[in-house]
Amino acid sequence: MKIIIINGPNLNLLGKRETAVYGKISFEEYFESLKTQFPHVAFEYYQSNVEGELINKLHEVGFTADGIIMNAGAYTHTSIGIADAIAGISTPVVEVHISNVYAREEYRHQSLMAKNCLGVIAGFGLKSYALAIQSFIGMI
Ligand code: DQA
Repeated sequence: MKIIIINGPNLNLLGKRETAVYGKISFEEYFESLKTQFPHVAFEYYQSNVEGELINKLHEVGFTADGIIMNAGAYTHTSIGIADAIAGISTPVVEVHISNVYAREEYRHQSLMAKNCLGVIAGFGLKSYALAIQSFIGMI
């Protein structure tokens, strides 16, 4: 099973950024533990701070990968382009957030991409990614 994890803006700063909200572990470090936890999954990881690059990546993998896990960061709340890209590809996408966006500022309560996703997982820290992987296992 091929799963790609796509992280959007500012998520390259995990471990350093607002650690009270996002934790002290970098994504690269967490990614290593995911590979150990799910040895039968073929993972790819991609991060960009640029909206168009995230859209290009969705187009590139969105017809061949078995599942996409996407944390679009702030673009979740603003990007019609990312929402349209998800609607246009055939690979199912699970939207993920580290923080519980519904317990935060009101502008984080809206996701433009959620309706085009298989589901949404938010608020479990980095474990949100592991839960998203589990949601694909058994489905694919
Ligand atoms: C986030 C939540 C977003 O509102 C925020 O802009 C992020 C991270 C999360 O994982 O909790 O960058 O997607």
